[in-house]
Amino acid sequence: MKGIVLAGGSGTRLYPLTHAISKQLLPVYNKPMVYYPLSVLMLGGIRDILVISSPEQLPMFHELLGDGRRLGLSLSYAEQPQPDGIAQALVIGADHIGTDPVTLVLGDNVFHGPGFSRLLRSRLPHVDGALLFGCSVSDPQRYGVGEVAADGRLLSIEEKPAQPRSNLALTGLYAYTNDVIDIAKNLRPSARGELEISDVNRAYLDQGRAQLVNLGRGFAWLDTGTHDSLLQAAHYVQVEEQRQGVRIACLEEIAYRMGFITAEQCQELASRLRHTSYGRYLHDIMNEERTSSD
Ligand code: G1P
Repeated sequence: MKGIVLAGGSGTRLYPLTHAISKQLLPVYNKPMVYYPLSVLMLGGIRDILVISSPEQLPMFHELLGDGRRLGLSLSYAEQPQPDGIAQALVIGADHIGTDPVTLVLGDNVFHGPGFSRLLRSRLPHVDGALLFGCSVSDPQRYGVGEVAADGRLLSIEEKPAQPRSNLALTGLYAYTNDVIDIAKNLRPSARGELEISDVNRAYLDQGRAQLVNLGRGFAWLDTGTHDSLLQAAHYVQVEEQRQGVRIACLEEIAYRMGFITAEQCQELASRLRHTSYGRYLHDIMNEERTSSD
C-alpha cells in the first residue's frame, strides 16, 4: 500500500494567514498541520509516501520532512502546478502508486480517536474498490456527504450539497485499489473546474465497490478550514495532550511504536531534540519503555 498526502489548495479561506505559507504548514497547537495526516498514514502501516504541494511550497515540505529515513519512511515529493482538485493527486501520483493500492489523505485533516490505528491496519489491506471514512458533523453542506442505508450500504455521495441527505461527512481519507489511477485519469473537471474526489468515489459506488466506515461518536475529525476551526483544532490537541500527558501525531513516537525504527534510533532522535519539550517527551517515553522492558 502506497500513501499520498495532498497539501495543495490555495487556502483562500484562511487569508491572509496563507498568503505566503501553505495552510498545511501552519501550526495546530504545537506541530505543523501536515504532521497530523502524515501520522494517519503511518498509523495505517504505510511507509512509502508521496507529498504533493504547489511548486512554491513543496521545498518547505521537503525542508520539514526530508527523505523520511529518520522515521523509517520513504518520502518523495511532487508538484501540483495549480489547485485543480483532489483527484488530480491520483494522476500526479500514478508513478508513485505503480501497481499497488493507495491511501490518500488530505494535508489539512486531523483525525484522533480510540482504536484508529487498529481500524486502519485491519481495513486498509483489504480495500476492494474505494474505502471511505465518514464522520457526523453539524454542517454537512461544507463537505462531501454520504447517504447510508439502514443495512450500512452506501447509497449516494454528493459534494457540498445545499440540502444534505444526511449529516455524515466524508472525511479527507480515502483508500483505493490500483484501478483508481484509470478512474482519475478519465475524469472531467467539474463545474468549478476541478477533478473531484467525489466523482472518483461515485464511480466506485456505481460499480458497487465503495464502502464507508463510520468513525462513530467520540471520534474527533477536526476541521482546519476556517480561522475558528483552526483555533478549535489547536485547543483540542492542547486539551487532550495536557490532560493525558501524551502527544498526538508525534511522528518519532509513532515510527517507534509501529516498528519502523528501533528504540536506539528513537532515542537518538530524542537526544537531538533534548532542548525542546517535544524532545523531552520523546526522551521520557523511551525511558519508560526501557524501564518497563527491564
Ligand atoms: C474536500 C472534499 C470533500 C471532503 C473534504 C474533507 O473538500 O472535496 O468531499 O469532505 O475535503 O476535508 P475541500 O476541503 O477541498 O473543500
